[in-house]
Amino acid sequence: MKSKIALTVLLVFALAQLFQPTQTEQQQVDENDFLQIEKPPNELKVYLESNCYDCHSNQPKYPWYSEISPVSWWIQDHIEEGSEHLNFSNWGSYSAKKKAHKMEEAVEEVEEDEMPLPSYTIIHREAILEEGEKIALMDWFKSLQLKYETH
Ligand code: HEC
Repeated sequence: MKSKIALTVLLVFALAQLFQPTQTEQQQVDENDFLQIEKPPNELKVYLESNCYDCHSNQPKYPWYSEISPVSWWIQDHIEEGSEHLNFSNWGSYSAKKKAHKMEEAVEEVEEDEMPLPSYTIIHREAILEEGEKIALMDWFKSLQLKYETH
């Protein structure tokens, strides 16, 4: 009985590999890119690019396990939902009002440890920010919020 269940699970898993989501096509970084426009200090740039950009840009990096169904669907869903809310690759096309609002949200998300998504930091341990790093990131988002509010 047990081995039958195990076999069924294995079969379903194997079959699931035939169904994969369409991954987000990698696009060239262009002049609308957040980091190109706002030029953060280098350590923030590196952090944003290697973490937030995984779900909030047209340059997500797919880990090897994103080729495995059903994880692949789950990851693709985060990337699509994340970039729908905020796409750093399209930053230049946002209005000043929208930019200010997104930065306000970003401060809150980081403050409450909601971004990067906890399901992401479980695997990407390097994405967890120390208190001082959190403050530096929030301060910088805040300064952009103010800049665009006064536009
Ligand atoms: C694993 C994917 C993932 C990562 C990594 C990630 N996000 Fe998100 N983000 C999402 C998803 C999905 C949403 C929308 C749902 C929600 O708010 O939980 C979102 C929502 C947001 C929002 C709210 C936008 C709005 O208008 O509602 C902000 C701001 C944000 N993320 C900023 C960040 C920042 C800054 C980082 C890096 C520190 C980051 N995110 C990392 C997936 C991610």
